[in-house]
Amino acid sequence: MDREKIRIAIDGPSGAGKSTIAKAVAKELNIDYIDTGAMYRALGYKLAGKGIPAIESPELLEVLDNTDIDFSEGNIILDGVVVNDKIRTPEISKMASDVSAIPIVRKKLVALQQKIAGNKSVIMDGRDIAEVVIPDAEYKYFMTASAEERAERRYKELIAKGEDVTFEKVLSDIEKRDYNDSHRAASPLRQVEGAQLLDTTGMSIEEVVNHILEEVRK
Ligand code: DC
Repeated sequence: MDREKIRIAIDGPSGAGKSTIAKAVAKELNIDYIDTGAMYRALGYKLAGKGIPAIESPELLEVLDNTDIDFSEGNIILDGVVVNDKIRTPEISKMASDVSAIPIVRKKLVALQQKIAGNKSVIMDGRDIAEVVIPDAEYKYFMTASAEERAERRYKELIAKGEDVTFEKVLSDIEKRDYNDSHRAASPLRQVEGAQLLDTTGMSIEEVVNHILEEVRK
């Protein structure tokens, strides 16, 4: 693509397909993809490993100041170690949701996300991208799908990975996480003005990817 900088922000609840779509769009446009949820997950994973609860405390601040989170070739790197699969368990999902509600954590990770995005073309997904991280993004989407469909997708993923879960538990976890993410005081999940609603219920990955590509390539 031979055009000036393009920044694409994708926000929405978990399981809406944000990361799958963002990855595919990034590949087509040959731009970087930044999975900001993975950053909250990596921090949650580190805290869980140290037995530090997700509440603001001197121990948590100490970890926050001494943690290095980065991306390299599609991998998420925590303190120099690839943690891709370790951060995708139901326990770490809950921990990530809890740490992401702490204002000082958001401040630090948002600053890091803005630094990683730098001054280049990127597609970034999360909950507060259009509102806080890149408010001047050229394209903004609020991607969602019914809670049942999102739970169905997540359930299949977890079963494929050999996790021992039931559909009911996955659905209730998703509903709890939706509630937490959209009712917290710090940057609650919401569709901002100027963001296009993309309801992916019943849509294939290809359909959603093509929809975005058509707009960006216009
Ligand atoms: O997208 P995800 O499920 O990997 O995100 C993990 C958690 O992090 C989720 O509960 C919401 C939170 N999060 C956030 O608060 N802000 C972001 N930009 C990305 C994720």
